[in-house]
Amino acid sequence: MTRPVPVILDCDPGHDDAIAIVMAHCSPAIEILGITTTCGNATLDRTTANARRILELIGATHVPVAAGMEKPLARDLVLGTADGPSGLDGTPYLPDPTMPLDPRHAVDFIADTLRAAPGPVTLVPTGPLSNIGMFLLKYPELRDRIARVVLMGGAMYRRSEYITATEFNIFCDPEAASIVLNSGLDVTMVGLDVTMQVLIEEPEFARLAAIDTPFARVVHDWLRHYEKLHRGQMGVGGAMHDPLALACVIEPSLITTRDAHVAIDLTATHAFGATVADYWNERGLPPNAHVASGVDAARFFDLMFDLLAAVDAT
Ligand code: BDR
Ligand code: CA
Repeated sequence: MTRPVPVILDCDPGHDDAIAIVMAHCSPAIEILGITTTCGNATLDRTTANARRILELIGATHVPVAAGMEKPLARDLVLGTADGPSGLDGTPYLPDPTMPLDPRHAVDFIADTLRAAPGPVTLVPTGPLSNIGMFLLKYPELRDRIARVVLMGGAMYRRSEYITATEFNIFCDPEAASIVLNSGLDVTMVGLDVTMQVLIEEPEFARLAAIDTPFARVVHDWLRHYEKLHRGQMGVGGAMHDPLALACVIEPSLITTRDAHVAIDLTATHAFGATVADYWNERGLPPNAHVASGVDAARFFDLMFDLLAAVDAT
């Protein structure tokens, strides 16, 4: 059997981040070295508490959690609206966490973890890229210890869920995103072009109901809430943005990608935070990202439900 991929999950839970964490924990293809949290779907204190609540719920309290950036590198904080003020609305009965928080800042935690790892580590950011951007500014010498970055972010062809030309994670901290894209790292962008094709609708709720474990019922409550907010805003079910990014680490063939140079619009006008992909290399700049352009939604959902069904057995 091939060795599991060592990963650091950098996230802002968030219902869809929560599901990505659970999938990573349950997949034999992944070894979670730690979770770092950032502001995004909610304030940092809330996303950090949520990460620990999720780990306690699934019995994974051995996974260290380190809190990171309270605000984007150069902008005021913008909070997401898709998950409610707590970041995990819909399950008020989940208790506050008691597991300890790692005392290090997320950026220092990432540095120490990369230094200690026997080989390169994959970063999976599913929130604004503030922690990863700050890490690259502070520890450029550790860049080579990163195998690749598989991030949820960006909107190329597709109409956004946020402001038409941009996607929330990139819009929230565009400078950090720009640092990551210009870092020379191997970056895969799993953006709205594909994540808006993996939607939780009634057939998916039926599959969740069929799992029928206490954990699946919690996920059901999360996703009902999430789906309601999505439907109100965009008229479609809940998009499994972050779970798809994570799933691409487990099974890269779930998506097809196109290599392109991607630039971020940092000019703070109408297309602020837009991800501009030069697929035809009109500007003559070297590609800096593998941009997800197609997805096998059916296979993704099979994987997601298999992993969610495994929770009570772990
Ligand atoms: C991204 O923004 C957040 O709302 C989700 O957690 C996801 O990471 C989608 O644009
Ligand atoms: Ca997220």
